[in-house]
Amino acid sequence: MQIIINKTQQPKTHPDESRLGFGIHFTDHMFVMDYHPDKGWHTPRIEPYGPLAMDPATMVLHYGQGIFEGLKAYRTDSGKIQMFRPGENFKRLNRSAQLLCIPLIDEAFVLNALKELLILEKDWVPKKPETSLYIRPTIYASDPFLGVRASHTYRFFIILSPVGAYYVEGFNPVKIWVTPDHVRAVPGGVGEAKTIGNYAASLLAGHEAHQAGYTQVLWLDGIERKYLEEVGAMNIFIVMGGKVVTPALSGSILPGITRDSVIHLAKMWNLPVEERKISIDELLASHASGDLAEIFGSGTAAVISPVGELRYGKTTITVGEGKVGPVARRLYQALTDIQYGRKEGPKGWIEPIIG
Ligand code: PLP
Ligand code: COI
Repeated sequence: MQIIINKTQQPKTHPDESRLGFGIHFTDHMFVMDYHPDKGWHTPRIEPYGPLAMDPATMVLHYGQGIFEGLKAYRTDSGKIQMFRPGENFKRLNRSAQLLCIPLIDEAFVLNALKELLILEKDWVPKKPETSLYIRPTIYASDPFLGVRASHTYRFFIILSPVGAYYVEGFNPVKIWVTPDHVRAVPGGVGEAKTIGNYAASLLAGHEAHQAGYTQVLWLDGIERKYLEEVGAMNIFIVMGGKVVTPALSGSILPGITRDSVIHLAKMWNLPVEERKISIDELLASHASGDLAEIFGSGTAAVISPVGELRYGKTTITVGEGKVGPVARRLYQALTDIQYGRKEGPKGWIEPIIG
């Protein structure tokens, strides 16, 4: 399929790179294609960034049949532009598509389309340290129809946003709120899909956490409300008893690509890694016995985010004296060194775009 390119006549002024924030600014162009049962995915095009016209009955607005991905393009010190494990994101997009009854995409085609878009938008990849170009591929149900069923038609788009740190804290400890009052996902549900409704389901608890002065929610499992699952936009790791421990992929948490990269690096460094159930009681007992060294989250937007304080009911614990721990620091350094091209990573992790 040939990608039609329609360039903007009104390029935007670029934002100040020292004040990018996250997901506020968008580039000049976007990639779009549509799905029709008779044609499959068709009419791939790169066009000026702008609003999508939508019938008020468009199914995604009513029943939430939509999925997305999040990945980044990085500018290296020598001026190259590269992505980190993008193939994994398109693989996960297809896994989400299966769970949401959305037709699969051709992963290789879409990766190439993204590369074309990035080549056109190369000047939008920011230069300042720790900034990047966040990439948001999205698919939504586009039938104008109010019956509850899977849509017959879909739209796929990719938009790009130059970003700084996800949390205002940057690479500094965040405060996490563990709530037994709300759950995000249950086994047999769509917790492992990157689907829009999972984020809607997280908002009320997130709001309560913010009001109490916490950055994000650490979810417990939906059945016993006892085992750690993940944080709003990150997977979670605990360094205790000399081991790096993370909740096993249960079907109700997102299989993070940063999570997988952390496990890979930790194993490469001969750190003992365990993927298993971790109860909140085990975590608190580990803190009480002096065994708990670090807690940190992992994610594309957040990279590695140390947790300095955790609150569960009436119990508040300070983790690692509220400072960045050595494992989190080493992982942050190693991941960003690979992403920004300062060091070579494991084979296949870097997808060069330019240079
Ligand atoms: N968990 C949730 C709910 C997320 O939204 C994200 C972010 O994408 C992650 C975990 C981390 O996943 P990844 O490392 O692939 O970005
Ligand atoms: C990401 O890390 O890419 C995310 O999608 C997290 C959040 C912004 C939803």
